[in-house]
Amino acid sequence: MNSQVDFPLSREAQRLKRSMMRQLIAVTARPDIISFAGGLPAPELLPVEAWSECSQRVLKDEGAKALQYGPPFPPLQAALAELMQARGVAVEPDQVFITSGCQQGLHIAGRLLMDADSAVVLDQYVFPGVRQAFGGFDRDLREVPTHVERGFDLDALEEATSPQRGPAPRAIINVPDFHNPLGTSLSEEARVRLVALARERNLALVEDDPYGLLRFSGEALLPLVGRAPERTIYLGSFSKLVAPALRTGWMIAPAGLTEESVDLESSAWIQRSLADFLHAGRLEPHLAQVRTTYRQRRDRMTTALETHFPASARFSRPQGGMFIWVELDDHYDTLALLPEVVEAGVAYIPGAAFSSEGGHNTMRLNFSNASPERIDEGMAILGQALRERMPA
Ligand SMILES: Cc1ncc(COP(=O)(O)O)c(C=O)c1O
Repeated sequence: MNSQVDFPLSREAQRLKRSMMRQLIAVTARPDIISFAGGLPAPELLPVEAWSECSQRVLKDEGAKALQYGPPFPPLQAALAELMQARGVAVEPDQVFITSGCQQGLHIAGRLLMDADSAVVLDQYVFPGVRQAFGGFDRDLREVPTHVERGFDLDALEEATSPQRGPAPRAIINVPDFHNPLGTSLSEEARVRLVALARERNLALVEDDPYGLLRFSGEALLPLVGRAPERTIYLGSFSKLVAPALRTGWMIAPAGLTEESVDLESSAWIQRSLADFLHAGRLEPHLAQVRTTYRQRRDRMTTALETHFPASARFSRPQGGMFIWVELDDHYDTLALLPEVVEAGVAYIPGAAFSSEGGHNTMRLNFSNASPERIDEGMAILGQALRERMPA
């Protein structure tokens, strides 16, 4: 922590370190760098004009209401219930709570589920916001090893939740579709087993789902909330579907839980504009374009991985989302390599940024933000740097 702080801080605050990811993303935001580091949507696809029309119309027609405090906007709740119903999840509009994104949803879930010394189960590699939301000084974050193609290791999950491991954890946190950072999705069998385990051991499921609607290949599977609504806290977000700056998402939780427990007021203007965007049928054509573009970029990056990376590299083959996870041979150190490749004009996130320990030979590559030509160029530079470090 900053040594100029001249007042007492919580034990948790004293332990806070600046997130490695934030630091890296700041370095790699330079326009001359081909960045596979951030989790940013393709900038040229952000729906600037459509959003401008919807938000201006709302201001013009409902200005005073849009700029006032306001409860969750019923037409937005109804549109979101419809969106979930289209994915096979039976949900009523009044079960949909508006949040300011999945990150706020994670914090709310943490508040609802965790006491000062509770345990929770998560993947070995997670989006850092999960640790922020569920971690705490005396809390037990039980990590489960992950597989580069399958995600969560379900056998290890059983072990991590078994009574021999100590007090029962409160919840299992997961991203079943297009995991960040792994890019993996849970199979049908894994979902069935996960839900059965949660029921058997009386655990909540936190389904963090910012990417579920970004599927560009393979078959869509029913979200966990559609399988076990009575024990799932589901979190959706418009950050990757429309634009991160809207800071709006939604939460579905068992009836009666959220209403009394949390304050979920988010911007009335953004909520009304989003309702307008959805009711005008602007989401689907936008998503169709995003999916086509991301599929092309995923293909381009996968081909480049096969062409330029050492043949021993293992990597995930995402069917949606924004990320590919790469595991290299043990002698590679992706954190040590990064400054050198940034110098050569490319950036990625070392896998260690997502774990509490380990992951020195792994990296996360984002494929949504760079053009296909920049993907080719950047991957060739990265592959060259890795091949130069192959043992003779
Ligand atoms: C897995 C995961 N959860 C939560 C978030 C936070 O998203 P939001 O912008 O909706 O707060 C992200 C953002 O990248 C994410 O990847």
